[in-house]
Amino acid sequence: MEDVIAATNRIIDKYGANSESLVEILRELNDVGGYLTTEHLAQAAKRLRVPESKVASVASFYSLISLEPMGRHVIRFCQDAPCHVVGGREVWEALEHELGIPFGETTLDGEWSLMTTSCIGACAVGPVMMVDEDIYGNLTPERAREIIARYRTASRQAAQSAERAGFAAQGGQE
Ligand code: FES
Repeated sequence: MEDVIAATNRIIDKYGANSESLVEILRELNDVGGYLTTEHLAQAAKRLRVPESKVASVASFYSLISLEPMGRHVIRFCQDAPCHVVGGREVWEALEHELGIPFGETTLDGEWSLMTTSCIGACAVGPVMMVDEDIYGNLTPERAREIIARYRTASRQAAQSAERAGFAAQGGQE
């Protein structure tokens, strides 16, 4: 598996080691392993010749970049006013209740992280959330619960298929 330094260098090289692309570089790097470590930040600072403090502050500013491990699915719920006034508060409470964690946390089984984000440009269909890369709008508490249930069903089915594939690979023997 590609190590931290190699992954960081690969993405930085793709952007021509241009410090003006710092945000894009960090976002892409974040997508590789789900979050950035101090090693990623130090290597980016070194290669881009910018202070580590600047890299760290950019990384902590953007909600799509994480500095700690995230769950298998990451919910990013828009907390800005236009989404809030059309029912965001109720959806916020439903999400916390459904997952059993407050915003900013990850479930103990590592399946879900519940995070906030600022406006993602879909205000016309607020309240809005992203689940991983997918955007869901016109949320109500019920619709938010249904979306989570869909992901849970998909996870269960994937686990069952993986189990069946493992069983078949063993020649169907117990
Ligand atoms: S304010 Fe929520 S998407 Fe714009």
